[in-house]
Amino acid sequence: MKPLVSASDAANSTEPAAAPGQALVIRGGRPLTGRVDVKGAKNLATKAMVAALLGESESVLRDVPEISDVNVVRSLLEVHGVRVDDEGDGVLRLDPSGAVSAHMEEIDAHAGASRIPILFCGPLLHLLGEAFIPDLGGCRIGDRPIDFHLDALRSFGAVVEKLPSGIRLSAPEGGLTGANIELPYPSVGATEQVLLTAVRAKGTTELRNAAIEPEIMDLIAVLQKMGAIISYEPNRVIFIEGVDRLEGYDHRCIFDRNEAASWACAALATDGDIFVAGAKQQEMLTFLNVYRKAGGSFDIQEDGIRFRRGEALKPVVVETDVHPGFMTDWQQPLIVALTQAAGTSVVHETVYENRLGFTQALNKMGADIVVHPHGFASPERRVPRRELEQAAVINGPTPLHGADVVVPDLRGGYSYVIAALAAEGESIVRNIGIIRRGYEKILDKLTALGADFDVLG
Ligand code: EPZ
Repeated sequence: MKPLVSASDAANSTEPAAAPGQALVIRGGRPLTGRVDVKGAKNLATKAMVAALLGESESVLRDVPEISDVNVVRSLLEVHGVRVDDEGDGVLRLDPSGAVSAHMEEIDAHAGASRIPILFCGPLLHLLGEAFIPDLGGCRIGDRPIDFHLDALRSFGAVVEKLPSGIRLSAPEGGLTGANIELPYPSVGATEQVLLTAVRAKGTTELRNAAIEPEIMDLIAVLQKMGAIISYEPNRVIFIEGVDRLEGYDHRCIFDRNEAASWACAALATDGDIFVAGAKQQEMLTFLNVYRKAGGSFDIQEDGIRFRRGEALKPVVVETDVHPGFMTDWQQPLIVALTQAAGTSVVHETVYENRLGFTQALNKMGADIVVHPHGFASPERRVPRRELEQAAVINGPTPLHGADVVVPDLRGGYSYVIAALAAEGESIVRNIGIIRRGYEKILDKLTALGADFDVLG
């Protein structure tokens, strides 16, 4: 067994392993051109790995990206007695037959900055009758509470105890039972929580106001392969009929549309031309509409999508939303490109309350971005989350120049890299390890696209 991204892999790869404290010295001002390959989605692969805990036989997951979030889930599974074998070329074999309870400290030590431990709850409650969750991390893009998760688990009958070291959950005698649940907001994580718990609960679960992101639909496909019975209606309602046992699965992850959108924005920001192999149109329809309105051009091909500027960049007004809306993960790299559009763009963030803070560093590089902390609230908004909203007003075009910046979170960090590549002069982008949470072989890919940089530290 070896970790997906280990020192030995790094030695065999042209890409140096990026420690969190490492920095990139980037000499910008040249377009990124060439081809990058995107593999499976971080936001499916990590959840499908957790689903393997529910099977009574081995699972095989394909197209798993070499990112540190996958390594975190792998360590957490191993702490819980799951055998994980890396068969190479993105294939993981997961054997849950030795699953055991783990101590809070062990979980804490392996969870790192990830929020994934919360999704272990349902499967562990079925398997072992108890589960522990340490303090959860994830990107610092808002409070990121877990109240929807805990309320859903309580609806299945779980008992939730808050302890100084974290949270302990236990299943009632006789196990968890199906429930009627309405989420206050179509949360991705809470929908996954309900799916991973309901498939083995006794009776039927009806989940209303569910998230319907493509990665969730792919998780449903994984669970169906395992023996689950799940159906859905177009109005965000999912029905799950609990079953007594589930088997392992063999599944190829859906492609990473967030990574694909990130490279698309890199082409726009640097005036480059990037073919993103593995990207598909269907899951990116909303992104592609905005890309076109912003002056981007794309060619949909059999094996990927080619992205470049079509004409002069144009300002756009965008509001982030749950699927099928414009994803919150897309706005950060898009904003970098919008600094080069002639006119005023508005990006209204409605999913996280602190996902525009990264724009301060873009201003340091010459951008003109003002963040309005209360957004532009509309009483007609489809979800009542106004207290969380923010809006960025981007005035362009503003030439960018090099600066010394520190990566704040995954997508913000990627955005700094492309801003530095678009800028004239030299930039230092510090703390690049965070980017490895979700971008596979980022340094190799940048090199292949003609980026000029050195790794420091
Ligand atoms: C997932 O986070 C993704 N992470 C995020 O990607 C993505 O931005 C987000 O979904 C939205 O698409 C993973 O899949 C690992 P949510 P998740 O629950 O599940 C609030 C990236 O960069 N909320 O849909 O944590 C929450 O605070 C990452 O790849 C509660 O209030 O997102 C947020 O405002 C970042 N209580 C909103 O709901 C809860 O119990 C949406 O969160 C849960 C969530």
